[in-house]
Parts: sequence; C-alpha cells; structure tokens
Amino acid sequence: MSDNADLMAKKACEAMNNAYAPYSKYHVGACAQAEDGTLFTGCNVENSSYGLTICAERAAIFALISAGKKKVTAFALVGSGKDLGSPCGACRQVMREFMSPDAPIYLVDSTTQKVAETTNIETLLPRSFGPEFLK
Ligand code: THU
Repeated sequence: MSDNADLMAKKACEAMNNAYAPYSKYHVGACAQAEDGTLFTGCNVENSSYGLTICAERAAIFALISAGKKKVTAFALVGSGKDLGSPCGACRQVMREFMSPDAPIYLVDSTTQKVAETTNIETLLPRSFGPEFLK
C-alpha cells in the first residue's frame, strides 16, 4: 500500500479516538484528502436527540469544503466494529458529490490500522444521481 494510503489510514484511526458515541458505542474515523493533498479528518458525533448525529465521513468532507477545498481525491474510513467499516447510504451520496467515480476509498482494519480494501464511489453507489443531472 502507498505511503499516502498508510498515512490516511493512521489519521482515520486517530480521528476515531475522538468519536463521541455514547449511545451506539460504535466509533468511526475518516480522513479526506483534498486536491492539494491536505488531509481533513472527522469522527462520528452523536446526540441525545439521536437524529442529529453526524457520521465521520460527512464530518471530514464538510471540514474539507468549509476550508475552501473543492474535491475529495482520496478517502479513508475506519469503524470500531468487528467487521470492516463501510459508509452508510447518506454518506455515499455526499462522497459522490465531491469524488471522481474511481478515486480511492480505503477501508481500514481497526486492529492493524492498515488498509484492508480499496474501493471507489462507482462501486459503492452505482448509477447514482449527481450534480451533472441539474445542468
Ligand atoms: N456512522 C458513521 O459515522 N458512519 C457510517 O458510515 C455509519 C454510521 C456512525 C453513526 C452513529 O454514530 C454510529 O456510527 C452508529 O450508527
């Protein structure tokens, strides 16, 4: 695996340590790379009003966009469960907005803190709706 993928995996794991998940106890960390290489991290942040919870993926992507970046060129995700984490449907749609179909999405093993699988948004969200439909 590339050094950059390994670094993103590590940063996602570090972000997972910041998860606020007292209700589900499922901790998630994410790392999004912008077009200039800058890395942005996010974790899930739950709320006692459950529906207000934000997922780690959207936290990372919204931080990237809020910093003035335009594209997510690579993404790493880790979840604390025994199975490999995988983005929820809502987060897939948000990733779709800012990622090229074949940009790498690294699914990270929380035990080894290494990339276990590489996928992309074309695979995770086939035949999706996106910005070009509105032009
Ligand atoms: N969660 C994420 O952060 N990302 C996902 O893709 C799946 C779910 C969070 C939301 C909630 O805090 C916890 O995991 C359990 O659903």
